[in-house]
Amino acid sequence: MLEALFSDRTHVLEIASGTGQHAIHFGRALPHLLWQTSELVQHHAGIRAWLDEAQLANVLPPVALDVNAAQWPVASVDAIFNANTVHIVSWPSVERMFDGIGKVLKPDGILCLYGPFNYGGAYTSDSNASF
Ligand SMILES: C[S@@+](CC[C@H](N)C(=O)[O-])C[C@H]1O[C@@H](n2cnc3c(N)ncnc32)[C@H](O)[C@@H]1O
Repeated sequence: MLEALFSDRTHVLEIASGTGQHAIHFGRALPHLLWQTSELVQHHAGIRAWLDEAQLANVLPPVALDVNAAQWPVASVDAIFNANTVHIVSWPSVERMFDGIGKVLKPDGILCLYGPFNYGGAYTSDSNASF
């Protein structure tokens, strides 16, 4: 799915990279992308440890990005990826996150959000239902 969606993209911002595992998986699978990781500062050491081990030239070390910030540390990207975050932060933070996305995502950009969402009123898996 992401392979098709991001086939013509060049620069992806990942919001809330967590451990960095998604960045490494997708960065390795989609080497045409420059994948910018980001997180709250307290998680950067963990991401850097994963990146040091993976040694992927197209996955960049994390920038400090709090979705509540008025100014984001990224100028302009043609794709944004985020997993498992909008359901754990407050609704005002979700609104500020979308405000920030609107500032840094190019007009024809793609936003890809993953999470334990319902489709047609049902979860897509048992694990997502528990999450
Ligand atoms: C459930 S984890 C998901 C991490 C990763 N995306 C994944 O799917 O494994 C939620 C992440 O949101 C990040 N987060 C929480 N509040 C945030 C904020 N205000 N700005 C940016 N990231 C935030 C946390 O640090 C955490 O890594």
